[in-house]
Amino acid sequence: MNEGNLNYFGPRISTPKPRTFELTGKKEREGLTPEEEGELRGLFAHPDNPEAASLLQKEYLASQGIGQMSDEERERLRIIRMEKYRRERRVEPSENAPSKLDEKKQAEASAAELHMLYIQAKIAALKGHWDGLPKEVIDRMIQAIPDDVTVYTKETLHSMPKDEPSEIELYFLSKIQNLPDFRKDDKPEGALRIMESIRCLRDKIRTKKFLAGLTEALNNIGSSEKSEIEMCDAGTGAIPILAIYAALSSEKVRCTAIELNPNSAAIAEKVVEAFGLQDRIKILRTDAIKFEPEKQIDLLISETMHSGLTAEPMVQILSNLNKYLKEDGVALPSAVRIKAALVPLNDWTSPKGFVKIYGNLHHVVSPNWEEVVHYEPGDNLEEIAFNVPVEGAPKGSYFVLVTSEVDIGSQRINSYQSLITMPQFLRDAKSDPMIFDIKDSDSRHSISVTYKPGEMLDGVSRLD
Ligand SMILES: C[S@@+](CC[C@H](N)C(=O)[O-])C[C@H]1O[C@@H](n2cnc3c(N)ncnc32)[C@H](O)[C@@H]1O
Repeated sequence: MNEGNLNYFGPRISTPKPRTFELTGKKEREGLTPEEEGELRGLFAHPDNPEAASLLQKEYLASQGIGQMSDEERERLRIIRMEKYRRERRVEPSENAPSKLDEKKQAEASAAELHMLYIQAKIAALKGHWDGLPKEVIDRMIQAIPDDVTVYTKETLHSMPKDEPSEIELYFLSKIQNLPDFRKDDKPEGALRIMESIRCLRDKIRTKKFLAGLTEALNNIGSSEKSEIEMCDAGTGAIPILAIYAALSSEKVRCTAIELNPNSAAIAEKVVEAFGLQDRIKILRTDAIKFEPEKQIDLLISETMHSGLTAEPMVQILSNLNKYLKEDGVALPSAVRIKAALVPLNDWTSPKGFVKIYGNLHHVVSPNWEEVVHYEPGDNLEEIAFNVPVEGAPKGSYFVLVTSEVDIGSQRINSYQSLITMPQFLRDAKSDPMIFDIKDSDSRHSISVTYKPGEMLDGVSRLD
């Protein structure tokens, strides 16, 4: 199965390593030798790559003036990091980067092919279950989604479900003649790949709450005298679920659905036609940050965000389009609150549990979250800047986590319920998790964090 596409989001982990628990415990109790400290840093940064972990240990020791690292070893670590970075961020290689690209592309193409076959088989098996009016079918699937995620303990990790296509995703894909070719899934800068946008429908609580918030807004707007509801769905994806669900919910809806990735937009058009909604939903292949609508908007919606308002351009999109919102118009999401917390390393390695969101496993910890940013559509948020206080924190090693809560009208997506709210930790410029060591005599007051909405949390912090 192709599990790779969205791995760059958040602190994805493999199953926790016993050695990590052991070293973190020892660090807490009696402290670590430099060798062990280096080993621990290696395990955090590269849990699945023993070679990289050991090179990182060497790098740490060399930085402490203990031992040496040869030029070959430094080069090898650079290459591994570059590959990891590229794999996680899907960036194209720079000129002097090593080229294992063909191999990687081939592996991705085979994974994509398998994925397509799997989806086809699933659709064939489920087709008979979807009789009835589309709105009723979708509502049935939405009702079946639980209101909260399952939290697994270490003991129950083995019983976790695999990363499965969601039934909603399969239902929409079953409507079009040919499946998109996920083997040729390129994208323009800033957009998501076809498969990445489709995978959002595996983020089930996100989808459920967005549709419930959308229904609420449509009911409020629809109860007025308006004969038409002018809607804009900015970042509609290959499966334009928000636009289609709105149009199926109210005859008054006329939607402009904008998508930056032309390949996704082409599929979205086919899906809209399959539902017979082409006269009411117009798919536009353009950049929602620059788009100037002809008509004023009653209902503006955009799900182009990641937790901490990183990685995706929702703030810029809403800053542009909110200008065209009618005075009594509604913009969704209605609010995003960013929260941050200092998390002892030990809590991270002895988490309260784990959640899995489409294939990625995430630790659940319960730090004291501090709200650091309250954002609403139209706010001029050019920069996200906040301090995480360290004063008074017992000596020890810490991560800084950043998370979001998202409101869609009265619907709230909490941390851990969705990939768009999942806590992420600050990383250094090389994209390895940052560990902050706080000492007894520490006179430093806070960790300052500054980034632009849509950026990643890499190299954005300073211990003051
Ligand atoms: C997270 S997906 C959401 C898809 C769908 N609306 C949903 O809720 O399932 C966001 C989509 O927005 C698109 N996108 C990102 N930046 C954009 C921009 N500047 N203009 C238009 N679309 C954009 C991405 O390519 C992606 O398909």
